[in-house]
Amino acid sequence: MTRPGGTGSARLGIRPAVDSDFDAVVVLELETFGRAAWSPRVVDGEFAALGSSRFIAVAEAGGEIVGYGVLSYVGELADIQRVAVKLPHRERGVATQLLDSLLAEAARLGCERALLEVAADNQAASGLYAARGFTEIARRPRYYPGDVDALVLELTLTSSAASDEAPS
Ligand SMILES: CC(C)(COP(=O)(O)OP(=O)(O)OC[C@H]1O[C@@H](n2cnc3c(N)ncnc32)[C@H](O)[C@@H]1OP(=O)(O)O)[C@@H](O)C(=O)NCCC(=O)NCCS
Repeated sequence: MTRPGGTGSARLGIRPAVDSDFDAVVVLELETFGRAAWSPRVVDGEFAALGSSRFIAVAEAGGEIVGYGVLSYVGELADIQRVAVKLPHRERGVATQLLDSLLAEAARLGCERALLEVAADNQAASGLYAARGFTEIARRPRYYPGDVDALVLELTLTSSAASDEAPS
């Protein structure tokens, strides 16, 4: 049995992204989101904004990037843009650790609220965000391809999260 938070035999680490993670994020973005994936140019823009309006956390196991999360922030508002985990590494708590890293960074930056959009039929993501206390504040009808609604979720941040979960 795989222990919670583990990825089989390889030990999982969560850390802030660095420039050399760019290629792995581009590949994982495409693997995960297909036609809806951010282009390499968009990912490049996200990396270029690190430290000013973006924070990216990556999950690494056995030297491989197995997941990443992207946070955008401005003033008191944080936005969870992406959380993605490589298929064989799912359902082992990787996304939960990535999300915790993003939320801790948002709190550390002084953000008071985190928002995100999720497709109403994305059960895995809905479960992930509900487990961390996100609640629905709005619904955008037929927002995604296939006439799938988008749910807008919100979480109020507390500064204690920053000291509990500060990324190393
Ligand atoms: C959503 C996603 C990031 C979850 O990653 P993960 O590492 O498997 O998630 P975790 O193992 O941390 O699971 C956290 C919670 O999510 C929910 N969850 C995860 N996978 C699930 C599934 N297949 N079915 C239902 N709920 C699921 C559960 O509530 C779980 O909590 P639990 O383990 O206590 O039951 C992953 O499925 C993924 O990359 N999906 C494609 C990209 C995507 O949709 N991203 C979100 C929008 S940007």
